[in-house]
Amino acid sequence: MTTSASLTALVVAAGVSGLGAVPRWRGLLDEEAWALADAFRRLAPETPAAHAIAHLPAPLLVGLLETIFVPGMAHHYLFRKRLIEDEVRRAVARGARQLLVLGGGFDGAGLRMARCFPELTVVEVDLPRTQARKRHVLMEIGHPIPRNCRFVAADLSRQTLDDLLASTGATRPELPTLVVIEGVLMYLEEPDVRALFTSLRRIFPGELSVVFGAIAVPDAEGPLGLRLVNRLLALGDEGTAWCCPSHRMAAFVAPLGYTLARSVTYGALQREHRSPAETRRVPEEDENYYVVTGA
Ligand SMILES: C[S@@+](CC[C@H](N)C(=O)[O-])C[C@H]1O[C@@H](n2cnc3c(N)ncnc32)[C@H](O)[C@@H]1O
Repeated sequence: MTTSASLTALVVAAGVSGLGAVPRWRGLLDEEAWALADAFRRLAPETPAAHAIAHLPAPLLVGLLETIFVPGMAHHYLFRKRLIEDEVRRAVARGARQLLVLGGGFDGAGLRMARCFPELTVVEVDLPRTQARKRHVLMEIGHPIPRNCRFVAADLSRQTLDDLLASTGATRPELPTLVVIEGVLMYLEEPDVRALFTSLRRIFPGELSVVFGAIAVPDAEGPLGLRLVNRLLALGDEGTAWCCPSHRMAAFVAPLGYTLARSVTYGALQREHRSPAETRRVPEEDENYYVVTGA
């Protein structure tokens, strides 16, 4: 297991914080979200690589993400956050009382949603080192962790969610629950992804929705730059493993006890916010987003 905080979580925070400087995107998130992304970018880095990423000028970082990963990637980070926040707000309006965020990284949505909805129980799980770094940054900037927001440190590839949540008593099985798994499942092996969805259904037998991203094709089959970055990230345990294209998702989740309620491809998410000329090079499928409900 890697001994430093997640580099990919930092890349997401840095990409989002970089776009926050562009007036056009400023209205997509609230000021607290921008301030948190900026604080995580500046204060979370512990390694030379992380410092280098965090200190790249924003346009250069956005351009690098576009070139190395996939066209539109920095924007994708921002747009998926908007999609997820909308899903959380919708779920709360429909009666959800619990939000479980798996692999929260350097994202402020759990904290912000806990503050906005005091009746919501928010539980955020991440690897110990990343979560410790997150707490450290929050302490540095004097940002309080709301009383209804709890951080639980765990490695989901080593500990089952059932054991984790039973041993910590962090969640209440009877509450209508939304689970957010943003930019995480690609780092797990397929059996672990299946086990995770099965566990969630068992742990929350009542009303349950899950919003999650899944890459459509393996990074190991992508362009040369992506293959190289994936090999480097794999050295720090952050190489991608599981993928599933959108036309197979309904069949993937059905035997695990879920119905596909919403499917938004990478390209469709970009077209919600950008013009056809801007999205010309954006692939239709990359990290697509899905909402599934417990069947
Ligand atoms: C790409 S980052 C995404 C962070 C955040 N969800 C976002 O989108 O801004 C991936 C996150 O998954 C977490 N993660 C990866 N493997 C994990 C595991 N086995 N157990 C718990 N968390 C994990 C990493 O620590 C990191 O915070």
